[in-house]
Amino acid sequence: MSTEGQDWVYSETVKDHFLNPRNFLMGDESKFDYDACGIVGNPICGDQMKMYIKVDKKSDKIKDIKWKTYGCASAIASTSALSEIAKGKTLDEALEITAEDIDEYLGKLPKHKFHCSILGHDALKDAINNYRKS
Ligand code: FES
Repeated sequence: MSTEGQDWVYSETVKDHFLNPRNFLMGDESKFDYDACGIVGNPICGDQMKMYIKVDKKSDKIKDIKWKTYGCASAIASTSALSEIAKGKTLDEALEITAEDIDEYLGKLPKHKFHCSILGHDALKDAINNYRKS
């Protein structure tokens, strides 16, 4: 049996997070009481991501997280996974999450879509940096 084309296959976890994205911000951002926002664009494809965090000031943990994007299916699934991984972590712990962690959580993205997982990852870093500057 030929293995050619296997790199085009999405895992069940990727499909689930794409079709049922967790922590996706529906509608206007004014409806979410966030502390900081991060915005990034993907230089490879030009897609954009916005990430919003609500931080527990005592524990420095991410209490809640929302996001929205013009990104592709892989970006949606990756950011959904990232939002689940990051929620409840301290800001320092959240900064240690890698694109590889997201890829593992999803059961691997096709190699040519790996760059899509970086979009949410960079938006989260930007949101944390903006929170710390405020
Ligand atoms: S192709 Fe742009 S984020 Fe996936």
